[in-house]
Amino acid sequence: MSSFDLNDVKAIYSNDSTGMLESLAGLPRQCMVSCLQLPQNVDVKNGDKIKNIVVAGIGGSAIGGDLLRVYTAGKIKIPVVVSRDYSLPAFVGPETLLFAVSYSGNTEETLSAVEQGRKMGANIVVITSGGKLMEMALSQDYPLVRVPQGFSPRAATGFLFIPTLRVLEKAGFLENITPKIEVVQETLKCLHEKLRPESPVQENPAKQLALKLYCKIPVIWGVAGTSEVVAQRWKGQINENAKAPAYWNVFPELNHNEIVGFKSGPDLLKNIQVVILRDEEDHPRVQQRIEITKRIINPAVSGITEVSTAGKEELARLFSLIYSGDYTSVYLSMLYGVDPGPVEVIESLKKELARVQ
Ligand code: F6R
Repeated sequence: MSSFDLNDVKAIYSNDSTGMLESLAGLPRQCMVSCLQLPQNVDVKNGDKIKNIVVAGIGGSAIGGDLLRVYTAGKIKIPVVVSRDYSLPAFVGPETLLFAVSYSGNTEETLSAVEQGRKMGANIVVITSGGKLMEMALSQDYPLVRVPQGFSPRAATGFLFIPTLRVLEKAGFLENITPKIEVVQETLKCLHEKLRPESPVQENPAKQLALKLYCKIPVIWGVAGTSEVVAQRWKGQINENAKAPAYWNVFPELNHNEIVGFKSGPDLLKNIQVVILRDEEDHPRVQQRIEITKRIINPAVSGITEVSTAGKEELARLFSLIYSGDYTSVYLSMLYGVDPGPVEVIESLKKELARVQ
């Protein structure tokens, strides 16, 4: 049992030095603002010649790329690839639309990828709040989406992701983005009432789940093509906000390997709390797989919790799951007695790397 009381609203806010909860409360508006305020000049030159899309970014700046990949998979006829690396795939060239996304604008992997993209002749669109990437965009005259400063990258998902949708809309790949983001905003606003710190444990599914995950190893399972990216996001948010380990995988892939690992080591397995992310659009066979899988692993693990999407539209449903995970990870940070905002390990690693250049 943690000594932290999740009904102590004052303590929750005072343990959140960087305003992670404030950013979460602002996410519905953040999504709408970033949809409506795409600068006029952010356009894709040669839009009709684009044959592939690459999103270069890392961590909190890359997750929007995965959302784009999953969301566009059944809608547009060209591939979207997310590149979390110093270098870009060899297919990148003048027919590539390259989104260079870095919240700080100083992430060396992303800067290196953009430099490579320039040499390969890619059509670059920059999304950043500043740093060297902003300087690069201004000096090279790349279309630039300026993101407000003062957020953690992982709390700026709306700012970093939604402009990519709008750019694809302007280039003729997607349509009617604004009404969809309106639904995202409404869905998140409703969910906020349930998940916010003022909502007590007995009415707050994120607080309840945080209590289940406390002192357990969270294993988050999503579904290919829908919640896979959200499973990865949950894992990252638990790592960065709660400073705790977490692992993720997707159906149906996990039925062909990971599930076998639930056989041996009963003491070990009792420490695992499985979270399954579900959506009404999951493939019917995957829904059956989930039911069978639950029966197989149930005796071995500490527990299984299902979290279902809310909302009437695909993007809203994805964001609803992200929102639940974000709140759960912040409440888990409280139970562990850590501040959700600062990520000192990442910062000191970046500094150490800068010293050894
Ligand atoms: C910190 C975070 C990290 C960063 C990553 C890349 O909140 O989420 O994963 O996103 O270190 O930095 P940026 O986003 O500035 O390019």
